[in-house]
Amino acid sequence: MAKLFFYEKRVIFADTTVWQGQIKKRKKYFFYKKMEKMNVKPADGKLGVLCVGLGAVATTFITGVLMVRKGLAKPVGSMTQYDKIRVGRGADKKYLHYGEIVPMAQLSDIVFGSWDVYPANAYESAINAEVLKEKDINPVKDELEKIVPMKAAFDHEYAKRLDGENVKKCATRWDMVEELREDIRRFKAENNCSRIVVLWAASTEIYVPYDETVHDTLEHLEKAMKADDRKHIAPSMCYAYAALAEGAPFIMGAPNTTVDIPAMWEMAEKTKLPIAGKDFKTGQTLVKSGFAPIIGTRCLGLAGWFSTNILGNRDGLVLDEPANFHTKEVSKLSTLESILVPENQPDLYTDYYHKVRINYYPPRNDNKEGWDNIDIFGWMGYPMQIKIDFLCRDSILAAPLCLDLVLLSDLAARAGRYGIQRFLSFFLKSPMHDYTKGEVPVNHLFQQYVMLKNALREMGGYEADEEID
Ligand SMILES: NC(=O)c1ccc[n+]([C@@H]2O[C@H](COP(=O)([O-])OP(=O)(O)OC[C@H]3O[C@@H](n4cnc5c(N)ncnc54)[C@H](O)[C@@H]3O)[C@@H](O)[C@H]2O)c1
Repeated sequence: MAKLFFYEKRVIFADTTVWQGQIKKRKKYFFYKKMEKMNVKPADGKLGVLCVGLGAVATTFITGVLMVRKGLAKPVGSMTQYDKIRVGRGADKKYLHYGEIVPMAQLSDIVFGSWDVYPANAYESAINAEVLKEKDINPVKDELEKIVPMKAAFDHEYAKRLDGENVKKCATRWDMVEELREDIRRFKAENNCSRIVVLWAASTEIYVPYDETVHDTLEHLEKAMKADDRKHIAPSMCYAYAALAEGAPFIMGAPNTTVDIPAMWEMAEKTKLPIAGKDFKTGQTLVKSGFAPIIGTRCLGLAGWFSTNILGNRDGLVLDEPANFHTKEVSKLSTLESILVPENQPDLYTDYYHKVRINYYPPRNDNKEGWDNIDIFGWMGYPMQIKIDFLCRDSILAAPLCLDLVLLSDLAARAGRYGIQRFLSFFLKSPMHDYTKGEVPVNHLFQQYVMLKNALREMGGYEADEEID
C-alpha cells in the first residue's frame, strides 16, 4: 500500500523523476531561473495605482478589480487576465498567459489611491457615475469608502465645466509638481508599496498644441513650470512630471498632449521610466482601427467616413466645451490616416472626407451610442455604404484597458524599458510616436497586436516573430 502511494505521487520529468510535492518548488525555481535570463525584475511587494480623476472610468476600474479579487466578478476584456500568446514555433510552440511568460503583478498586490477635483470617495463616486448597479458595488463598499481622493492639481481654465473644491492652492505650476511629488511619496510610504504607477483617468483638458520654445526640451519645460507659464503647462503635465520624478510610469488615458512632447520623452529617458498614451481605445475608435483594415486589405476605395456619438456622462459634459472637444477630435481623427494612406493608394484614398462628432445627451449617461457611416466604392468606382451602430458602455470598455495599461507599464519598468512604449499602442486611440523625426504611428489594430505580442515574447526571453497564429 505504501509502495503504491509512493508511485502515485511520482511524476516523470524529461530529465529526472521528482516528487509531486516538489513540483511547485521546482516550477518556481525554473520560473525564477528564466526570469534571471529575461532580466525582468520580479513583481515583489505592493503595486500602488494612483488614478488622476475618480470619475466613471476610474471607479468602474477600481470596483471591478476589487470585485474580481473577491471572486464576485470576471475581468472580461482584459488581455493580461485572459489572452494567451504563442511562444516558440513548430513542435515547440505553446500558448501561454502573459503571467506565464513574464512576471506580472497580481490583482491582490494592487493598492488604489487617487486625486479628484470633487471630494467624494470611490464608493460615492461609483454610485454617482451610475455605470455599475449597486449590487455590483456594495460587496466592496468598505474598501471603496477608504479611497478618498487627494486634492487635485487643477486649473479651471483647462476644464471650464468643472468647479469642485477639492483643489490644491498652488502659487505656481512648479508648486503643483512639488505637492504632487509629496502626495506620491506619502501614499507609497503609508501603503508600504514597492512600486507606483500613475494613470490619468481625469477629464480631457483643453488642447495644448506643441510649442517648440517650451515643450522641446526638459530644461525649457522646467523653466516654464517655475515661471508659472499657465498657457503652455497643463495641470496634467505636472502630474506626469511628478510621477516620473518619483520613479513611477505615467499613462495618459485622455487625448491630452501631456507626455506627447519631446520634453517629457527626455524626462522619461532621464528617469529610465515608461510613458504611454494617448486616449483609451474603447468604442468607436476600436471599431475603426479594426474595420478600416478590411477596406484597406481588400483594396476597396473610401469616399468618406462620418462618425457621430451621443453620450451623457460627465466626460460628455466636459467634451461639450469646444476647446476640450478639439483635443478629442485631433485624437480621434488620427486613426484612419495611417491605415488608409492616400500616398500609398492614390486611386483609393485620396481626399476621403473624415468627420467625428460627439454630442452631449444626458439621458444616455455612460451608455454611449456611436454611429459610423462609411461610404466606400468598389469595382469601376461603384459606391456602397456600410453602417455601424455600436450601443456600448463607455466605462465598461475602458476599465479593462486601465488594468492592462497599468500592469503592462509596471512590467515595462521592471524590464528596464523606458520612453514611449509603442507596444501599448494596441490600447490607445492616438499612439505616441516621435513626430519630430517623421515617425508614423501604427493605428492598425492587428499590427498593434503583433507589436504587443512581440514585446511580451522579448521580455519573456523568447524570439519575436510574425508567424500567423
Ligand atoms: N470611457 C471611455 O470610453 C473613454 C475612452 C477614451 C478616453 N476616455 C477619457 O477618460 C477620462 C475619464 O473619463 P470618465 O468618463 O471617467 O470622466 P468623468 O468625468 O466621469 O471623470 C473624470 C474625473 O476627473 C476629475 N478631474 C478633472 N480634472 C482633474 C485634475 N486636474 N485632477 C484630478 N482630477 C481631475 C473630474 O472631477 C472627474 O471626477 C476622460 O478624459 C475621457 O475622455 C474615456
